[in-house]
Amino acid sequence: MALLKIARMGHPVLLAKARAVEDPTAPGIRTLVADMIETMHDAAGAGLAAPQVHVPLRLFVYSVPAQRSAGADDPPRTVAALINPVITPIGEEIAIQTEGCLSIPGLRGAVPRAARVRYEGVDEHGQAVSGEASGFLAVVLQHENDHLDGILYPMRMTDLGQMGFETEYLRFGPGGQAGGQAGGQAGGQAGGQDSPRESGQAEEHA
Ligand code: NI
Repeated sequence: MALLKIARMGHPVLLAKARAVEDPTAPGIRTLVADMIETMHDAAGAGLAAPQVHVPLRLFVYSVPAQRSAGADDPPRTVAALINPVITPIGEEIAIQTEGCLSIPGLRGAVPRAARVRYEGVDEHGQAVSGEASGFLAVVLQHENDHLDGILYPMRMTDLGQMGFETEYLRFGPGGQAGGQAGGQAGGQAGGQDSPRESGQAEEHA
């Protein structure tokens, strides 16, 4: 087990498209997954994608911290790996939620995402993984999957006024008084209203 160095925004590895994992059960992949989990926990993150640790492969680890669980449809989950994932939106509904990223330390932003997704892939034991996700799980899956395509969450934002430093975000909410507007503009759920409650928690960055 080893802690890995996390790439920060501006490093080209974060803008590259990652390639498929040829053998998900290879010992090197299992070691990588274990190291990524250790690195994610050390950095108090909720998810981590391989390109964030300078490995341009299509895999990530993800979790649903108890404080981010959105209820029965989005139960807390311990960390797991998803290799060669395929994430597909279900329906048209958009939800706006606060996101952070271990590659963009200190900042948060309100990001519109598909409210529900289907996910498929395999784990590091070669077992098929699939399901439907909403709430935080849907967010973290989309956020991590984007890393595999060289996309960082600010590139998904439609209003950069909804981005800020953690301290200010916690104090004033997403975009200050504009938090509710963000949900309205995208016709989504009231992600902005959830954010002040959530943004005080440590394990949010992915
Ligand atoms: Ni991230």
